[in-house]
Amino acid sequence: MFAEPQLSPLPEARAHAPAQPPALRVGIIGMGTVGSGVWRVLRRNQALIAARAGRPIEIVAVATRTPARAAAMLVGAPGVRLLADPLHLAADPVVDVVLELAGGTSTARDWVLAALAHGKHVVTANKALLATHGEELAAAAARHGRVLAYEAAVAGGVPVIKALREGLVGNRILSLAGVLNGTSNYILTRMQAHGLGFAAALTEAQALGYAEADPTFDVDGTDTAHKLTLLAANAFGMPLRPDAVHVEGISDLQPGDLAAAAQLGYAVKLLAVARRDADGVQLHVHPALVPQRHPLAQLDGATNGLRVQADAVGDMFYSGAGAGGEPTASAVLADLVDLARLP
Ligand code: HSE
Repeated sequence: MFAEPQLSPLPEARAHAPAQPPALRVGIIGMGTVGSGVWRVLRRNQALIAARAGRPIEIVAVATRTPARAAAMLVGAPGVRLLADPLHLAADPVVDVVLELAGGTSTARDWVLAALAHGKHVVTANKALLATHGEELAAAAARHGRVLAYEAAVAGGVPVIKALREGLVGNRILSLAGVLNGTSNYILTRMQAHGLGFAAALTEAQALGYAEADPTFDVDGTDTAHKLTLLAANAFGMPLRPDAVHVEGISDLQPGDLAAAAQLGYAVKLLAVARRDADGVQLHVHPALVPQRHPLAQLDGATNGLRVQADAVGDMFYSGAGAGGEPTASAVLADLVDLARLP
């Protein structure tokens, strides 16, 4: 008979083990595609994330317009409060971080300002909110000594904000060129590669959870312009001015246009471009013919990509899932782990 190997600490050692640091307590506003993605990934990878963050990250409250759906999801997690009013969540003393995933700009602005005023950090995926009210919100965060984090607002799961703020921080950025809207890229891919009509391709993108609740901004270029505005602020230190972006969308493109482009060796992509010239930095969003061998032409479906030209490192290219619940949750969790690691 062999003794069982002793893998867990002895009782004496346990008594002296440092206490587990308190969990980072998260309240989520909005339990749609991204909110439920965060819930699933956090539950699935809970131990791994806690080990990396140095403490657990727990969802303690949810504010939603669809309580029945949220309640079904939260079965088995009886400790999670379900609230009807996001302002109550923003003021709730059990919440350390407010995760704003509901979208929209005017009420979302109020929620974020309230959360910051109540001493919460805020994580958001809301590019429209940040592009239009980002400076006011950043000033409020600074005033209250809190963090406003938004990796998930640009390019879904591709960590391009971290790339600019961290990996490339020592570089002078020369230009940006990217595909930043998963819905429109999905539509263009389905039209060009499979001959689908615009409306049918949009319906598919909606069913796959890529499109906004109102997909107008996805297809008219506004969503891409919001994201470009955020990238340009990080890359060039520019003020957030979405109205300074020249924007053209994809709604007028016909399958025949895309087929003709393909015959000539081009993919049609909705590009976001920021380039320095003698007059400053010019920002454009428009459909463009991209040679098929170019990495941007090879981004299919909801994939996003960003090419960065920088003075020290040269050309960089980032790509990956640009929309959808779990890819966007991946970026949200990166921000949450950053917050959990704060001293
Ligand atoms: N509707 C957006 C898109 C979601 O399609 O890219 C991610 O921001």
